[in-house]
Amino acid sequence: MDTVHVAALVGSLREASYTRLACEHLLATADAHDHVETDLIDLQSFDLPPYNSDRDSPGDSAELLDRVGRADAILLATPNYHGSYSGVLKNALDYCGRDEFGGKTVGLVAIAGGAYSSSPLDHLRVVARTIDAWVTPRQVAIQNASARFEDGELTDEAHADRLDALAEQLVAYADLDPDERAGVE
Ligand SMILES: Cc1cc2nc3c(=O)[nH]c(=O)nc-3n(C[C@H](O)[C@H](O)[C@H](O)COP(=O)(O)O)c2cc1C
Repeated sequence: MDTVHVAALVGSLREASYTRLACEHLLATADAHDHVETDLIDLQSFDLPPYNSDRDSPGDSAELLDRVGRADAILLATPNYHGSYSGVLKNALDYCGRDEFGGKTVGLVAIAGGAYSSSPLDHLRVVARTIDAWVTPRQVAIQNASARFEDGELTDEAHADRLDALAEQLVAYADLDPDERAGVE
């Protein structure tokens, strides 16, 4: 079986980010498959100035494009910021486009401090569709985040199960070839 590359883009820079912990949980589940390689794309360790199309490959943008480009399936994970996804993730996505995402499988996770609202997931779904990604029907929202994690681990079983199921869906559909299935040359 060909190696499948699953990456997660962490949309929070916070040191103790629940979004990062959720990404680590999901990638660990995916990594349990022998044919899967994973990549935690932690924007905290990237120098990514606010996107400006006048500037050619500033900071670590080339590395970002390279790592997203190598992935077959990509998790977009964000904190809920004012009912939408984070500016940090938006900035990273603005550097990317169809070259990195076109035809690829994308999963979505949103982490909220308060009660769940689906809007960050809805907004990311629109962005992913616009750059020609195939977004999985399954998505995960973790509300009241501080009650679900303990000592750097996701301890809430129901949400862990949902992340595991999303990981399995990303692995299962990572080699989706939509054009071939649709008969497009
Ligand atoms: C600017 C900002 C806006 C936020 N807006 C919301 C919100 O609309 N709804 C909500 O439930 N939590 C909101 N929160 C709380 C975050 O979703 C919560 O702290 C989350 O855990 C952050 O993710 P992180 O742990 O990965 O950094 C907001 C936090 C910040 C800093």
